[in-house]
Amino acid sequence: MASASISVGQGERAYAVEVGPGLLHEVGGRLRALGKHGRVALITDASVERLWLAPVRASLTAAGIDSQTLVVPPGEASKSLATADSLYTQLIQGGFTRSDTVVALGGGVVGDLAGFVAATYHRGMGLVHLPTTLLAQVDSSIGGKVAVDHALGKNLVGAFYPPRAVLTDTRTLASLPKRERWSGLAEVAKAALIADAELLQWLERDLEALGDGTADEATTARAIERSVSIKAHVVTADEKEQGLRMVLNFGHTLGHALESETGYGPLLHGEAVVMGMRVALGVSRTLGKLSVDDEARARALLARFPAPPPFPKPTREGVLAALRRDKKSHAAKVRFVVLTGLGRSDTEPLDPAALEPAVEEALEALP
Ligand SMILES: NC(=O)c1ccc[n+]([C@@H]2O[C@H](COP(=O)([O-])OP(=O)(O)OC[C@H]3O[C@@H](n4cnc5c(N)ncnc54)[C@H](O)[C@@H]3O)[C@@H](O)[C@H]2O)c1
Ligand SMILES: [Zn+2]
Repeated sequence: MASASISVGQGERAYAVEVGPGLLHEVGGRLRALGKHGRVALITDASVERLWLAPVRASLTAAGIDSQTLVVPPGEASKSLATADSLYTQLIQGGFTRSDTVVALGGGVVGDLAGFVAATYHRGMGLVHLPTTLLAQVDSSIGGKVAVDHALGKNLVGAFYPPRAVLTDTRTLASLPKRERWSGLAEVAKAALIADAELLQWLERDLEALGDGTADEATTARAIERSVSIKAHVVTADEKEQGLRMVLNFGHTLGHALESETGYGPLLHGEAVVMGMRVALGVSRTLGKLSVDDEARARALLARFPAPPPFPKPTREGVLAALRRDKKSHAAKVRFVVLTGLGRSDTEPLDPAALEPAVEEALEALP
């Protein structure tokens, strides 16, 4: 199966996202084709190292590209200034310069962390993403946002730093735990709901196969390509997140509040977003933006996502306070993303108080 190429961004900052099975075996050749790669600092986490490092190393070696592998522990805790600092030390000791390239092999944690290091070491090295989780493939590797977390909040220290290329090997998903896969699939459903009625139809047919990992290669690649295209289109039109890019936050206002109120542990991001999307559907209908039938169809799709394992319920007050703190809110209002149809979306300034009934309903419905 050939790979698909989707272009992101404009002018000098434009790059291609290649999606296809087996691309990890082609990393060396693709880097050569990009030119000016220098040496490679291959950054990954310990789980992905064990599973997927070998083909990347072999391909770099075969292309005559010198590389050094830097491994961080798996998990969100690695997205820190402390880990970045230890990577800087290894880069300095390894003699890396700004003409060299960081290759990020892993999920969103590795992509954000390695991207942040690439953006800041010697004022910017080349960056290539090799995303290995569904979430990283359809979301975090596209759009050029890189960051580390701060003790006072997630993603608070970062930059917009586009990669030179994204090589998405869909076969890496074979080893991804089911729960991580369903979590990433929530972002695919989000993309469909905000922008692509045809992708929504495919999901209605193939959701369980995609979530459980039994879908064939073509079906998987097609869903990923379409999600990538949607995000590529939105971030190309709004590179610095001024307006349009907001629609990518569908389901995320409440999703983020639930993640922070449960202490970023019991809920995976996509699981929180599924709950957030349910609330956003109710709000869209209440505001008269979405028909009852369309709401029902979207809810039926979301009902097929597995419930997360039981976790202590956050309080109504806590969730509402977190909504008010959301960094995306403007003054007293929250810029809330609503659906205006299936595959269509818009933003609506809302007083967080207007979300109270929907939030209560969502908390009631928690497992
Ligand atoms: N930059 C952006 O625009 C953006 C967008 C969305 C999310 N994010 C960030 O992404 C991060 C979450 O990313 P994630 O969900 O990929 O988490 P992750 O990177 O922590 O990966 C999840 C787990 O899966 C493991 N893993 C990765 N690939 C695997 C594979 N192929 N097989 C088996 N195991 C594998 C990892 O070791 C890890 O334990 C968060 O920090 C979030 O803030 C960034
Ligand atoms: Zn998300």
